[in-house]
Amino acid sequence: MERIMQADLIVKNAAELLTCQAAEAKRGDELQDLGLIADGALAIKDGRIEFVGRTADLSDWQATETIDARGKVVMPGFVDCHTHLVFGGSREKDLLRKLRGDSYLEILKQGGGILSTVEHTRAASADELFAAGMNHLDTMLALGTTTVEIKSGYGLNPETERKILEVAARLEQAHPIDIVTTYLGAHTIPKEKTKSEYIAEVLDSLEEMKPLAEFCDIFCEEGVFTYQETRRILTAAKECGYKLKIHAEQLNTLHGAELAAELGAVSADHLDHISPEGIARMAASSTIGVLLPAVPFYLMLSKYAPAREMIEQGMALALATDFNPGSCPCESMSLMLTFACLQMKLLPSEAINCATINAAYAIDRGATIGSIEQGKQADILIVAAPNHETLSYRFGRNLVERVIKKGVVVQVNS
Ligand code: NIG
Ligand code: FE
Repeated sequence: MERIMQADLIVKNAAELLTCQAAEAKRGDELQDLGLIADGALAIKDGRIEFVGRTADLSDWQATETIDARGKVVMPGFVDCHTHLVFGGSREKDLLRKLRGDSYLEILKQGGGILSTVEHTRAASADELFAAGMNHLDTMLALGTTTVEIKSGYGLNPETERKILEVAARLEQAHPIDIVTTYLGAHTIPKEKTKSEYIAEVLDSLEEMKPLAEFCDIFCEEGVFTYQETRRILTAAKECGYKLKIHAEQLNTLHGAELAAELGAVSADHLDHISPEGIARMAASSTIGVLLPAVPFYLMLSKYAPAREMIEQGMALALATDFNPGSCPCESMSLMLTFACLQMKLLPSEAINCATINAAYAIDRGATIGSIEQGKQADILIVAAPNHETLSYRFGRNLVERVIKKGVVVQVNS
């Protein structure tokens, strides 16, 4: 006699079910493999995926709730693996300076940019930051993001950095989106301190921030932190038990990519100005390159990360928004798919793997989220699109129809 298995939720008849399955971050040709199942189905029990396959093979399963995904794409929730989501104020006035011709680093030098957000973030109460953060997370969830990495970095003193990381911890408790935290004390140098004073303060604060952050990150850039300063701070962070990330080669080539590979960083992010040596070193390492294509777009720069060359050389890549008030005031991961395709020449299939499974590996969560595989957390999107290419093709509107988080439908968009 056949045994019928009981699920909490079944999704069936998907035109394309994209599993994005991978035992480690995808590289090379694997990036084009979405593990696509035509007429796909899945069954969820207790928040986990219990069955993945064709609808025709679902006969052993019944469920209390069934979603018919006929004509639609079913895929893993987006993982936004690089954001600066907790901040005070906003920076629409920088847009006017930018349009007058001031560069990103000029605006920063004039006390605008990151430093103006620091003033607003110091002045804001934790409750104000929390309310703004909830708002951004609501927008992200509606757009299909189910896990978000959040960096501190707009405090630039231990008190405010702690406030930001504590707000991120509250957001994790209060919001369906899962949150991973990063200490980015070394985002820039605060006005009231010399660089060496501030580096000493960041080094001193590593122990104190450790319970609040899994990763440590730094902005390695001309006029911000040099290669040697970056090496010093990341080495100390590693000794303190942090996993590492780095903002590298965003505007200039400082060889932070090579350093990330050498130190075993989980990711090196931006990389628009990576050198051929940097590509080679990262390709030979486990460090994932997180590409942020909305940033050069929004800063009106012409140089994007050389994604095709990176893939040819064997680098593992992920995609993220970099959501922040200065260089990407935009929460949409599907817009990142469009930018990655049009500006970096990623294929739609590659972009989706980069925004799901590889992004999960970029925050060291590849074993539990980022793909539709038996045993994984059921973070799943139902997308009103007949095929996966449509996600990159249509932009400026939300194609995500339903969001399932830990097996529960948490968002229905009309
Ligand atoms: O990742 N590059 C440095 N930090 C952020 C921007 C922060 C800001 O402009 O407020 C980034 O682009
Ligand atoms: Fe960033």
